[in-house]
Amino acid sequence: MAQGRHQEATSNDTHGGIAEAFARTRSLMEALAQPLSDADASIQSMPDASPAKWHLAHTTWFWETFLLREHVRGYRLHNEEWPFLFNSYYEAEGARIARAARGMLSRPSVQEILDWRAAVGAAMEPLFDREELVDLIALGIAHEQQHIELLLTDIKHALFQNPLGPAMWDTDRERSPSSEDLGWHEHPGGVALIGHDGDAFAFDNEGPRHRVLLEPFAVADRLVTNREWSQFISDGGYKDASLWLSDGLAWVRENGITAPLYWRGAEQFTHTGWQGRDPDAPVTHISYYEADAFATWAGARLPTEFEWEAIARGQDQQGSPQAHDATAGNQLDRAEAPLPSGGSELFGDCWQFTQSAYLPYPRFKPASGAVGEYNGKFMSGQCVLKGASCATVRGHSRASYRNFFYPHQRWQFTGLRLAKDI
Ligand SMILES: [Fe+2]
Repeated sequence: MAQGRHQEATSNDTHGGIAEAFARTRSLMEALAQPLSDADASIQSMPDASPAKWHLAHTTWFWETFLLREHVRGYRLHNEEWPFLFNSYYEAEGARIARAARGMLSRPSVQEILDWRAAVGAAMEPLFDREELVDLIALGIAHEQQHIELLLTDIKHALFQNPLGPAMWDTDRERSPSSEDLGWHEHPGGVALIGHDGDAFAFDNEGPRHRVLLEPFAVADRLVTNREWSQFISDGGYKDASLWLSDGLAWVRENGITAPLYWRGAEQFTHTGWQGRDPDAPVTHISYYEADAFATWAGARLPTEFEWEAIARGQDQQGSPQAHDATAGNQLDRAEAPLPSGGSELFGDCWQFTQSAYLPYPRFKPASGAVGEYNGKFMSGQCVLKGASCATVRGHSRASYRNFFYPHQRWQFTGLRLAKDI
């Protein structure tokens, strides 16, 4: 998360605007965590996932470490022992608890962390008027939005471990409209300008903007559905070695994979517990390996991140199916269960795997100092995903946004959109 590209926070980036964005984002995370008991919020289902309580705390550590401690004269940490618990991966910030041990933190309690959040929120007030801090505050807001999505996907994985299949919310979701015949967005190819440019906020890994040569291609106009995935399974997709990358086949065999994560018979596990699976909803919780095998089975391929961005540039992502609206007035009203609903937009429902490796763009340089550890040091062995999911805070993503996960990971709302050569 280098600071160099964070010229502005949001489209309403007056000081009042950024203070408001800060408050709304903070309250959204608290509203989403509100249905959880202290026990729910403290458990960790796997090293990749963190307890909900830890997300509430880590985002607070971020403000205290990079804003308050650095820019408020005489600021005293809320608790001097807590940075060891809630630093995520910042080597420049020193030693920290092992990632896999975050679920051992029975103390501090959720209430103690909420009290800390309130104290940090109040201490931040004077900083919104300081022009030189606007970029860093914008980064902190985007960081907290990312952890809102992680809180949702991590708690889903944690609740899934319980044989009782507990629900976080009891909201029933509408069924998707029948999925339409697959159509294609065609692109003639040529030199495309890829990456973020301009004054609006973006993470450092989205730039610099640069030229990429594209061959003519087409990208599907909707995501692959549960119905289509069931056909892949019925056709022996998980058993047909010819469809799989070598690493993917090894992963399938070692882990006994026969379906997307959270599938059980005709049901799937959701934030509202076990539910009948909607055949017309986008398939989700698949790995890169599965996405690639499906695309091969379908006679297509995954798009590159450049193809996806070339199609997406200029498309409005504000009206697409992302669940959590940090710009809404009453955050508690917006605390609802994320579930892919079958929208046709590029932004929403599920993050979409591309075949592109997560690598630096030409001339990319991380920022100096601790915040330079945000993105650049993870550019090894991961896949780029584009779009946004039903758990993404609305307005968080954009055409140049680059999400990234390892090829075997599938606890995020991951799906796929086919591509082909033309
Ligand atoms: Fe973080």
